[in-house]
Amino acid sequence: MRIPIMAGNWKLNKTKQEAEALAGDIAAGARDVKDVEIVLCPVYTALDSVGRTISGTALKLGAQDVYWQESGAFTGEVSSTMLKDAGCVFVIVGHSERRQFFGESNETVNQKVKAVLQEGLTPIMCVGETLPEREAGRVEAVVSDHVKGGLAGLTAEEIGRVVIAYEPVWAIGTGKTATPEQAQEVHELIRGLLRELAGAEVAERVRIQYGGSVKPDNVKSLMSQKDIDGALVGGASLKADAFLSLVKFNEK
Ligand code: PGA
Repeated sequence: MRIPIMAGNWKLNKTKQEAEALAGDIAAGARDVKDVEIVLCPVYTALDSVGRTISGTALKLGAQDVYWQESGAFTGEVSSTMLKDAGCVFVIVGHSERRQFFGESNETVNQKVKAVLQEGLTPIMCVGETLPEREAGRVEAVVSDHVKGGLAGLTAEEIGRVVIAYEPVWAIGTGKTATPEQAQEVHELIRGLLRELAGAEVAERVRIQYGGSVKPDNVKSLMSQKDIDGALVGGASLKADAFLSLVKFNEK
């Protein structure tokens, strides 16, 4: 059985104080949630204060990116060792915004995934096609390339420790969600790739999140799909009420 995982990707939002307030509200509202893993991913500067706010709760802390070197002359970067030191358990890697605006490639994603695993943290590795790629019938090719490239050189045991987020780029922040059937189709494809790469047992265990305009009114139908094990949420994670309603999708 895969434990559902709901992660809030706060992106470039919230000062320390605002982040602390949001984390506090989410922690309070999620006190009775037992069967869902909840992850909050604030900006680097708020990691410490959010970490303190949720310490002693079941909520986990995550970062939005990482650099693969442990230390050295890499101005502006943060390593997985430092993220662990700041209390992170999860790290988002290869988000489409990083691929689109910051030159992230399958090769850099792969190096980051390895560095995160090496530190004993869990990467949330993002994959997904753009609209032109979907329209050109290239979903399978692009997603396979992201999955295989990102996981290249990993052992089956290591692949078993990764969370994958399928995020069709055209659905991110646009209000256009993939239909549950469209999402399930790609999740099934990803699970098949995992089977090829790491065997059936690992493939059954790895959690695959959907991301892209997940909202309180579509979460239940997405989560009812066989291979959708959680959500990576941007916009709706910035308000405690909306995020809590996603976390409590089971009670709907
Ligand atoms: P969205 O973002 O929920 O605002 O579409 C999702 C994401 O980018 O992870």
